[in-house]
Amino acid sequence: MEGNILILCYLIGSVTFILGLKMLSNPATARKGNLIAAAGMTIAIFGTIFLYQDEEGSKLGNYPWIFGGLVIGTVIGTLAARKVKMTAMPEMVSLFNGMGGACAALISIVEFNHLVHGAGDAGVYAADPSLLFYELNGSTLLIILLGLIIGSVSFAGSIIAWGKLNGKIKDFSFNGQHIFNLALLGIIVVLAGYMIITRPDQMILYFYVIFALSLLYGTFFVFPIGGADMPVVISLLNSFTGVAAACGGFLYDNKVMLTGGILVGAAGTLLTILMCKAMNRSLKNVLIGSFGGGTKSVASGPKDQGHYKEISLSDAAMIMSYANKVMIVPGYGLAVAQAQHICHELESMLNEKGVDVKYAIHPVAGRMPGHMNVLLAEADVSYEKLLEMENANDEFKTTDVVLILGANDVVNPAAKTDTDSPIYGMPILEVELAKNVIVNKRSMKPGYAGIENDLFFRPKTSMLFGDAKKVLQDLVSELKNV
Ligand code: TAP
Repeated sequence: MEGNILILCYLIGSVTFILGLKMLSNPATARKGNLIAAAGMTIAIFGTIFLYQDEEGSKLGNYPWIFGGLVIGTVIGTLAARKVKMTAMPEMVSLFNGMGGACAALISIVEFNHLVHGAGDAGVYAADPSLLFYELNGSTLLIILLGLIIGSVSFAGSIIAWGKLNGKIKDFSFNGQHIFNLALLGIIVVLAGYMIITRPDQMILYFYVIFALSLLYGTFFVFPIGGADMPVVISLLNSFTGVAAACGGFLYDNKVMLTGGILVGAAGTLLTILMCKAMNRSLKNVLIGSFGGGTKSVASGPKDQGHYKEISLSDAAMIMSYANKVMIVPGYGLAVAQAQHICHELESMLNEKGVDVKYAIHPVAGRMPGHMNVLLAEADVSYEKLLEMENANDEFKTTDVVLILGANDVVNPAAKTDTDSPIYGMPILEVELAKNVIVNKRSMKPGYAGIENDLFFRPKTSMLFGDAKKVLQDLVSELKNV
């Protein structure tokens, strides 16, 4: 009876994961989706704690340890999630992802020790270890090693990514690092294969050598990647953690762990592919590093592009207040300036003057997936006002003023016209279809891709220099006088 209830708990868990994930794909339902999946996870966890029985009918026990861990984890997780600043979100995701990888690796270590030491009595083991190890099933060993390797790589890589994002760890690379990394990975695979096929006497030694090398590989895998490319790598590591957790599901024949792991693995892989596609870069290019992160800048200094013109705050306020439609293009600079609230205030003021205001959201604007959506949601901007790139591009031709706030690469026409540009082929927001373009940034410096932006020199464009928050505050004051 209890077994059937547990299966039902796992079924509920699996269904809520799928439902939650589906709901996460829309900002309007994302919060609810998250809660639904979390509720499913809670049911699965408590079902396991209270209903699971092994073949001999014994329950889990160890309740003080289990609940001690649960309480500590819940307190830390809740405090961290409440305190984290939006701009520090990628580093928190990375740290939590690392913990998932560590859990998967720990499961492998615990189960390996279980199998090794539980396969016979200590006397037999001491007399002839090889006999004992033959009792280990090959496919079980394969799953244990996969969980160990992938989990350790994900743990070490995520911790390095976390350190790099919060500035505690500096970029580090040396000549031939990629070959070194490949060799390291090759050694890990060969050792694991040898261990599974031959079951050598020193299995325990092999196991821990593979563990150490995997940690080393995870570290060196992430070290050379440019800091700004980290979101792509974190998403990749996230998918690794999912696969490692799925290995745990295989090991315990636990369906909900398997489903959860596979979902995380698949979602992480898809997100990685989507991010690379939206940046028009291959994953290899991100991992080996072509631009971003300060390792290499494509344009070293401003080329002589001709002249750009500036617009005063009062003129900018004037043309926006007399417009029918204004489209705001938010970018990384808006997030850095934390100008989302004042941006929403500007939108409300323009609305009061009868101006239709919408936001054009590029899929890789900012530095993490959904960065602009989350940022604007924080300021209570209505979801209906956020247009995805394709819809925004359709609406630019009927737009009077485009106000670009701290965005650069996502509006760079070189992506369409300059075949030599590193962003060539990346879909962009075609702001030039509008009647006027106002660009707010602090200087003429390039953005993430390190390249010039010809848009700033085009006849329709006017520059409005300054920190986004300050400029928006001043614009709001000006609008009060128009
Ligand atoms: P960027 O091209 O990085 O440009 C941001 C601009 O904001 C800069 O040119 C900077 O110019 C300006 N800025 C910085 N601080 C500012 C402030 N306080 N006030 C006003 N302006 C400020 O940003 P984007 O257009 O959003 O493009 C995102 C880039 O990141 C793309 O190349 C994308 O491929 C990459 N990327 C995205 C992701 C995801 S998933 N979103 C992940 C990794 C990489 P000044 O210094 O002159 O002010």
